[in-house]
Amino acid sequence: MGKRSRRRKAGPRGPGIAGRAGGRYLTRMTDQPPAPAEAERLRILIAPDPVLRRKTRPVVAADATVVRDLIPRMLATMYAAPGIGLAAPQIGLGLRLAVIDLQRDDRREPIVLINPEIVAASAEVETREEGCLSLPDQYADVTRPRAVTVRFEGQDGVRRTIEAEGLMARCLQHEIDHLEGVLFIDRISSLRRNMILRRLAKAQREKAQA
Ligand code: NI
Repeated sequence: MGKRSRRRKAGPRGPGIAGRAGGRYLTRMTDQPPAPAEAERLRILIAPDPVLRRKTRPVVAADATVVRDLIPRMLATMYAAPGIGLAAPQIGLGLRLAVIDLQRDDRREPIVLINPEIVAASAEVETREEGCLSLPDQYADVTRPRAVTVRFEGQDGVRRTIEAEGLMARCLQHEIDHLEGVLFIDRISSLRRNMILRRLAKAQREKAQA
């Protein structure tokens, strides 16, 4: 998921750093801690890449080495983007694996999600703006359950459960969708989805020509 799905009010950095659209998508320019230097960044696939549409397979014991090597690189890629979540299909890997770090108060607290599953979701829904590193600069309001319970394995192989609401619940659902080959644009009207895909294709064409 892209960084800061919605900025509700001006942050402590004040109006000095002007963001796009009146600061709604303000990203940090100067106080970003450096990504782990040893971890090489990965290329993020951009929609409509068909790899983003494939359902992933569970991580098994035989994947341990690949996963161990990949996690620091996924985190470095996510922080550099900058984003708050990155799923394996976005870097071209069909494994049930994602990383999340909301970076609240600029603190890094990465969560590695191996084989995550949503085991419960609230009946109550919430609408929030979402973005995605595979759909750069595209945003839309998406309605999803307000709270979810997610079961997953950590990097240490220990099974854990997270009960989350708000932005964390949003990010978990967004990343787990990626593992099913689902993008946030699948959860909005086809009219808006097609508009976003057209806008993205145009931006990518212009970028390629630049
Ligand atoms: Ni995404």
